[in-house]
Order: sequence, then C-alpha cells, then structure tokens
Amino acid sequence: MSHYVNPSLTAVAAALDSGKVAWRSPSNLALIKYWGKHGRQLPRNASVSLTLSAAHTNSHLSFEKNDKQSGIDFELRYDGIRKEAWEPKTVKFLNSISDVYPFLNGYTLQLDTINSFPHSAGIASSASGMSALALCLVEMEQLLFGTEYTQAEFLQKVSYLSRLGSGSACRSMYPYLAAWGETLHLDGSSDLFGVPVDGVHEVFKTMRNYILIAGREEKSVSSTAGHALMDSNLYADVRYKEADLNFGKLMPALYEGDVKTMGEITEHEALTLHALMMTSHPSYILLLPNTLILLQKIRAFRADTGVPVYFSLDAGPNPHVLVPDAYADQVESFIESELLQHCHEGMMIKDQVGLGSTKLA
Ligand code: DP6
Repeated sequence: MSHYVNPSLTAVAAALDSGKVAWRSPSNLALIKYWGKHGRQLPRNASVSLTLSAAHTNSHLSFEKNDKQSGIDFELRYDGIRKEAWEPKTVKFLNSISDVYPFLNGYTLQLDTINSFPHSAGIASSASGMSALALCLVEMEQLLFGTEYTQAEFLQKVSYLSRLGSGSACRSMYPYLAAWGETLHLDGSSDLFGVPVDGVHEVFKTMRNYILIAGREEKSVSSTAGHALMDSNLYADVRYKEADLNFGKLMPALYEGDVKTMGEITEHEALTLHALMMTSHPSYILLLPNTLILLQKIRAFRADTGVPVYFSLDAGPNPHVLVPDAYADQVESFIESELLQHCHEGMMIKDQVGLGSTKLA
C-alpha cells in the first residue's frame, strides 16, 4: 500500500457537486526501456525518457455527483464522438484506483479526449492519454477536497496514478527528461512514480525527434502482454542487469552533453527491446522490412557524414530519429530524400523534446 491511499477522500466529504478540468500531456520516448514488470505495476528495471511535445493528448474531464452508492458512471468521447468500446479499459483503471480515490464512486464522469497524432499511426497513446487523465483526476481531487500540493507534489501524485494506468505514462508529465524505477544511479528515484531528471545538458533539452511511420497496423501483441512474457524469458535477468548498467553509463552522458554515448546506449536499448520480443515464448516480431531499411540507412548516414543522428524504437515498427537541434536541417533533408520513401504513405511526425504537461483553459 502506498502513502497515497486515502480513505478519507470520499464523495460524502467532497465540497463540490460538479466541475470540469482539462489538461494536455505529451508522449515520451524511453532511452532506457521499461520492459518487464511485477506486483502492482512495478518496473523490473529503471527507465529514462525524453518528454516529447508535438505528440500529445488533450483531455477534458467533467464530473457531477450522483446518487448511486456504487460503481463508476463513465462516458468516453474521442474527438466529440462516443467510444463505448474503449470505455471498459478506463473504467477498469478507475476501479483499480479506488483505494486512492474512493470518491470516484459517487460521480458521473465524462472524458473528452483527442490525440494530436492520427489514430493508429502506430504511436503509443497510452502514455499521453493515461497521464492526461491522471492530471485531470488530481486536479479534480484538489477542487473537491481543497487539497494543497506544491507543483512537485502535484506532479508526483499524477505520476503515481499514471503508473497504475500504464507504466510508461508515469514519465510523461515532466519537462525534458524523466526517470522511473529505483536505482542507485539517481537520487530520489522510485518504483512508485517517475521523477524529473534535473541538470541535464542543454543539447538534450532541444533534441529533435522524427517519428518515421513504417507501418500503421495495430500491434499483434500488446505491450502489457509483452511485459508478461518477460516472466518466462530466459534472458530476463541479464536484461535487467544490463538496463541498470546502461542507466549508470547514460546519466553522466546526459549531464555532460555526450550525444555519442547517449545515442549508442539508446540504439542498443531499442534493439534489445525487440530482441527480447523475439526471444519470448511465444516469440514475436513487431519490426517490418522497412523498419530495418530505415535503421540501416540512419547508421550509414551517420557513418558517412559524422552527423550524430541515432534511432530508437518503441514497441512497434516505427523508428524515432534523434538528433541535436543544430543538425535539424541537414537531417530533415536526409529524411526527405532517403527515408520517406520507406514510410507508409511517406508519413513522418516531427517532434522534439518538450516541457511536459500543461493545463488547458
Ligand atoms: C516499450 O507502458 O505501454 O514503451 O505498463 O503495461 O501499460 P503497461 O506498458 P507500457 O509499456 C511500454 C514500454 C515501452 C518502453 C518504455 O516506454 O519504457
């Protein structure tokens, strides 16, 4: 049980009957990957991510007290259209946090949400979507109960709740870079919530991130199922050890502005993530032929030009191209002339490291 569990937050004690809150939260890209979990959404290793900016979710949450004594009344709209099929997943999450927020039982909730990126563009929406919802919920708590949080406490509680919804979501609300998972390499790190990684070199705060859409198919194996397969993966223990070693090597590189070390670790982590999928039982492959062509071309361009451009991958086929801001023009020309031809309908999303979540009017 956590220190966030608070049975006194009940609908009976709430001061308000209805209200509306709205937040924007971005997606994030892990440099050290979270892959493998246990217990109540606890990570097997510590992870670090870049907070993105252009890829984000906007969510509006309306709440109104009702007379029902049990069950959560919930409606979900995407871009103004009711999506009943998506509701059970969020209801399950809201029920799962009843120890933290017992008051949700007494309210009718309506969530209006929209992503900045096209649906099924192969971009994970759980990190931005879950964190946007958690931001709304913590603000709702504050409105109802008058709870006062410092900015840091507010974000930490948001992160705690986000983690319960989707692990990677707990890193999305912080500016620039965030870490999740207890490790000796970062003071204040925790398995329960993500923390901001302060003091990183400027080069990483303005890093560009281009998402190359190699494929738009729905994933054949969900991330949640992929994490579960780590429990029987013979390479798992070695993986968790290596993740911690990589974390230890990455931190000084982040402080010193060592892009080469950051890039090498990032590529290694991305390929390891997919190697773990390939060595699971049953094994599976999320990479597409075009993914491999894109990765090879990025490495060849780096070798030929000396431009410090690196790739990463999420649990899907779409490479993320990472490069310092100073090389953006050169890399954009390269993407246009060499890479877009291998993307689904020439699709690419331009993004960069960003400032984290923002409250919407
Ligand atoms: C590959 O956070 O989507 O993006 O906790 O089951 O919701 P759940 O999984 P999820 O895992 C995605 C992990 C990853 C790597 C990372 O973001 O660290």
